[in-house]
Amino acid sequence: MTRLTQSQHWQRLQQYAANMLHMRQMFEDNPNRFSDYSLKRCDLLLDYSKNRINNSVLTELFALANEAGLTQKIKAMFHGDIINTTEHRAVLHTALRAAATDDIRVNGINIIPEVQATLAKMESFVNCVTTGQWLGYTGKPISDIVSIGIGGSFLGPKIVSEALRPYWNKNLRCHYVANVDGTALTEKLSKLNSETTLFIMSSKSFSTQETLTNTLSAKAWFLAQGAKQADVAKHFVAVSSNVAKATEFGIDADNIFPMWDWVGGRYSLWSAIGLPIALMIGMDNFRQLLSGAKAMDDHFQQADLSENMPVIMALVSLWHSNFYDAQSHVVLTYDHYLRGLPAYFQQLDMESNGKSVTLAGDPVDHATGPVIWGGEGTNGQHAYHQLLHQGTAIIPADFIMPLQSHNPLGEHHTQLASNCFGQTQALMQGRTYEEALAELADSDLTPAQKDLIAKHKHMAGNKPSNTLLMDKLTPKTLGTMIALYEHRTFVQGAIWDVNSFDQWGVELGKTLGNDILNRLSAAQDCNELDSSSNALINLFRNKQI
Ligand code: F6P
Repeated sequence: MTRLTQSQHWQRLQQYAANMLHMRQMFEDNPNRFSDYSLKRCDLLLDYSKNRINNSVLTELFALANEAGLTQKIKAMFHGDIINTTEHRAVLHTALRAAATDDIRVNGINIIPEVQATLAKMESFVNCVTTGQWLGYTGKPISDIVSIGIGGSFLGPKIVSEALRPYWNKNLRCHYVANVDGTALTEKLSKLNSETTLFIMSSKSFSTQETLTNTLSAKAWFLAQGAKQADVAKHFVAVSSNVAKATEFGIDADNIFPMWDWVGGRYSLWSAIGLPIALMIGMDNFRQLLSGAKAMDDHFQQADLSENMPVIMALVSLWHSNFYDAQSHVVLTYDHYLRGLPAYFQQLDMESNGKSVTLAGDPVDHATGPVIWGGEGTNGQHAYHQLLHQGTAIIPADFIMPLQSHNPLGEHHTQLASNCFGQTQALMQGRTYEEALAELADSDLTPAQKDLIAKHKHMAGNKPSNTLLMDKLTPKTLGTMIALYEHRTFVQGAIWDVNSFDQWGVELGKTLGNDILNRLSAAQDCNELDSSSNALINLFRNKQI
């Protein structure tokens, strides 16, 4: 057993889990449940009252956090300590939104001046492109941006830009290419004019196969359109921590925006990886995004655990994962602009906490990161909410909704809100057999049929959910919300004592894939491989099943 599961607080929580009242009962017993279990900070309101919690549970959860040294671990991260111990790196995405006057040191050097210089470089570039001063090889301004990157070099830019559609620069279009599938790039290039297209190649490592391949093909397309090698500098820029490789690749040194090894890919949208965001919403709004995240950083560092929004979200989620065997967590965004956010949180959380050994390398003896999934409300209600309501699994849900729409249209937003709130209420209270039977009282079914249908209409309820509200979706509130989830992920990793900032699990697939890549274009047999890989390779070679 690891230290965590030996904790008296862990063992007390196990006892509590077996004896909790139904949420419906807890609401009936305490008319103030909402005010007791909701929190308003940094322009967000978190309603966590529809969870299987009470004061005793929260007391033990906070005690577990204290026992894990959470407060010290928070300080260590913000201070720049080497907390990513397997890669010997600091974790300082928070420095990207720190005040210009801060002094945060890596290897004894204050990194804030370089962060600020990069923001200034971004601002100058954004202004140059958006005012039409940046001209292509035939003297025309840029009309289209193609952002090439994958993982955190794709999801952050794309999803945040999409979420902030109301703030877009009207004269620019931005396209995102991530997958190495040639269709992704081909479909984008077919609509573009090489004279007015600017490519942003985003790769922290500058060694990701998909991004290198896509950029080489984009460059080949560009030259095939009549441009010259000397014109590449006007149409290709790069964001990378590997400036040498980017230069070697042919990106003009002036067009390389630096990033740093103390920024994880899934935490990097606040860096120059966010260049497509800044181009689309403007640098002032990008700085608003940063300031929103900083507001949450300050709250996270300063608030007592019991009044700390990321800590509460993390602990309540951990409670359901570790004590109710909730193996997935669904994020339901009741706002069309936020439809991509679940995918962003998927990489953020699953690549951070999809781990099975502690920092010391000991196998964990409890669940760690759940599967994160989700989608746009109300669409999910017509797709997977059936399982949320009547399935056998407990799937905690986060409902996210701005109270004001950017596009007020008749009753639409009111209906959206009624669906959002109705779903959380139904998940919590369910429907008893007796209630279902009563609903059938006037039907012409026989008593036996009513009994049967009532059994099928019964809903256990007691299904946990959070509701996260903001007045309006703005760069600032979006930044605050994303930082909230970053810190939620941090807290869970800190309590589970895993390394939330490496990703060794993605290396093996890449290595084996590279070996198979060589075999696919060769002819020799692969009998030394497993029979499946051998067969699949041969089927691909023959392009026929
Ligand atoms: O999936 C592994 C990973 O390293 C992610 O963490 C990262 O966001 C993505 O690949 C892209 O990496 P890079 O920005 O170095 O190309």
